Amino acid sequence: MMSNFKKIKIIKPDDWHVHIRENKILKKVLPYTEMFYQRAIIMPNLKEPIIDCKKALSYRSKIIQSCKLNKKFQPLMICYLTKETSLKELKYGFLKKIFIGSKLYLNNSTTNANTGINKINDIFHILEFMQKIKMPLLIHGEENNPNIDIYDRESKFIDNILEPLRKKFPELKIILEHITTKESVSYIEENNSPYLAGTITPHHLMLNRNNMFFGGIHPNLYCLPILKRNTHQIALRKAISNGNKNFFLGSDSAPHFYKNKINSIGCAGIFNAPSSLLCYVSVFEEMNALKYFEDFCSKNGPNFYNLPINKEIITLVKKPFKVPSKITIGKNFIIPFLSNKVLQWSIL
Ligand code: DOR
Ligand code: ZN
Repeated sequence: MMSNFKKIKIIKPDDWHVHIRENKILKKVLPYTEMFYQRAIIMPNLKEPIIDCKKALSYRSKIIQSCKLNKKFQPLMICYLTKETSLKELKYGFLKKIFIGSKLYLNNSTTNANTGINKINDIFHILEFMQKIKMPLLIHGEENNPNIDIYDRESKFIDNILEPLRKKFPELKIILEHITTKESVSYIEENNSPYLAGTITPHHLMLNRNNMFFGGIHPNLYCLPILKRNTHQIALRKAISNGNKNFFLGSDSAPHFYKNKINSIGCAGIFNAPSSLLCYVSVFEEMNALKYFEDFCSKNGPNFYNLPINKEIITLVKKPFKVPSKITIGKNFIIPFLSNKVLQWSIL
């Protein structure tokens, strides 16, 4: 019977941007990432962020101990930059392969970014050093000035911060994380540089801000950068359909308990790990771009980071898959992206 279903075999993908948190949440959400991905960049914005090698090693070993499905799963660690980050620590961490990059969060730009960078000038010495040792810089690319309209924060970040930064450090390898606007797409396409790439999430490919307010507010669709207008969604979908090597998979799966999302001040983040890869394949299929699907998932990322391409293969089958309604963790639960919805693809 199975043979009646359309199948795609691809090199096992990597997720170049995921939040898996700690303790009970980590144990519960990690299997979803292990199932679909061979490696994943684990974001460092814990309550106590990963700011040095000791914290990264301890977090990495907890993740490895929590692996259930894939003993070869590789968590790739990132250093959360502060203005106190020591160059010695960065160099040691990068050369010893504890860190594969560092992350720039402007102060208060998102979850647990309250120790982020206030003024970009404060870390020029760090960025110069990273350029020298060829350590990639991952960026949450949104302005943090609360007077800037939330829908403009990404494009203003490019004009006010990123472009001047790239002029100053032209050979610093930069990944603009979870891009959401046509401005970011054109910026990456026009630069067409081995020093600039972007990750794209499944939710920004599948949805726009209308979905967040359809018939009432949908707090589970609140994330940062916030969902944009459909013209931006269209630009992202076109970007991945052109086969440009400077775009790759970063799910930004970001679990929060339901009680913290449905709250007078709800947290930003969408937990998409149970379905992220299945969402991407649907979008590529809708865009008639399946020929570029494997590059986006499994090749562009490692090529940009100068890492080997995985050897493992996975098979996706065109067969309905129902996303779980909720993930229970003790007395709490998390509502996954597309909870209870049926997707057209599943993993074999
Ligand atoms: O929506 C988001 N959630 N965006 C981020 O940048 C952080 C993430 C989180 O950690 O919850
Ligand atoms: Zn993120």
